[in-house]
Amino acid sequence: MKILALSGSLRAASINSAVLRTVRHLAPASIDVSLFSGLGDLPLYNPDLEIAPPAIAKQLRNDVAAADALLIASPEYAHGVTGTIKNALDWLVAFEGFADKPVAVLNAMPRAHHADAAIRETLITMSATLIEAASITLPLPSANIDEADLLATPEIASLLTDVLAEIERAVNRSPAMKPYLDSSLYIDSQHPAIVAQAAKLADGCGDEEEIVKRCFEFVRDVIKHSWDYRLNPVTCKASEVLIHGTGYCYAKSHLLAALLRANGIPAGLCYQRLTLDGDQPPYCLHGLNAVYLQQYGWYRIDARGNKPGVDADFCPPLEKLAFPIVNPLEQDLPGIRAEPLPAVVKALTENPTVEQVYDNLPDVAHQTHTV
Ligand SMILES: Cc1cc2nc3c(=O)[nH]c(=O)nc-3n(C[C@H](O)[C@H](O)[C@H](O)COP(=O)(O)O)c2cc1C
Repeated sequence: MKILALSGSLRAASINSAVLRTVRHLAPASIDVSLFSGLGDLPLYNPDLEIAPPAIAKQLRNDVAAADALLIASPEYAHGVTGTIKNALDWLVAFEGFADKPVAVLNAMPRAHHADAAIRETLITMSATLIEAASITLPLPSANIDEADLLATPEIASLLTDVLAEIERAVNRSPAMKPYLDSSLYIDSQHPAIVAQAAKLADGCGDEEEIVKRCFEFVRDVIKHSWDYRLNPVTCKASEVLIHGTGYCYAKSHLLAALLRANGIPAGLCYQRLTLDGDQPPYCLHGLNAVYLQQYGWYRIDARGNKPGVDADFCPPLEKLAFPIVNPLEQDLPGIRAEPLPAVVKALTENPTVEQVYDNLPDVAHQTHTV
């Protein structure tokens, strides 16, 4: 699980930043806490800048999108929130990746109740999911203490450890996860054939990772890539892929997502923009998956099917995908989608043969921000 920590103070000796570093120190291996260090470099928010947001704002948005939860600690200035944290939140107001994000707010100063109330109001207005159980006021012995002092204070260390546990609990039942567990038109995880296959694959598995590995290997090795094997029909829905035993990379990713969701494991779709052959245009999309693992958070897997030169595997936390990104117009499209891109659905539903799909492979323009 990934937590992005934001401190509303730019002071080198900030107690709020020290609290967040202490949380990072206390986090178990399964929780990655990273502090965003660029809030002081964000320009003042101006909606006119949305046409071409500055790199640091894009970085913040991408980090927010990649995080399972945010943890904010920010001081009170003149009975309000600091400009630093308000400006950062202003950059996130119009960003769709922020909506429903689980957020916890730590208040390092019991007397600073105005800022605490104001930041909560702002977050709720921005459609964040406030994690109440993890949003606490810390009984700090003094404002002039550092990370080492905080770690050496058992009451504080224990409270912050509980904060981490509460965030983890909230993430696992967060509404933000719901789309990655839902059955839908193309990821039809409630189709009887998918439910039966998912149960068969999970049978006898000791833990979640074993289930993911079996589902991944089934789709990678048993379901044949439609172009590698020149196999019709063209499939799109997960159930079609399973029933016909074939699919393009996109369709195979629908099946893998459906099998994982049918087993109660959050799964989404990722895309890469790649050249069709070597280092030259034309480009096309390539479809793969991300699965949410309790121990590591989102982890990408590629079940398109191995062949000479392609050796994708499930070996978390190491990522072993099918294709490297080799030239500047190729890219990993940012974001994890719950549903397929419209261009992918169009290619798979409007082209009746695998040859026609190959002649009309979907592509999108180079992405500069999270879609
Ligand atoms: C400009 C300014 C205004 C402040 N206003 C308040 C305030 O209204 N209420 C309060 O409790 N503390 C106030 N403080 C004290 C800070 O909250 C306190 O110094 C806190 O430790 C700062 O957080 P930091 O250590 O993370 O920088 C103010 C401090 C500054 C610098």
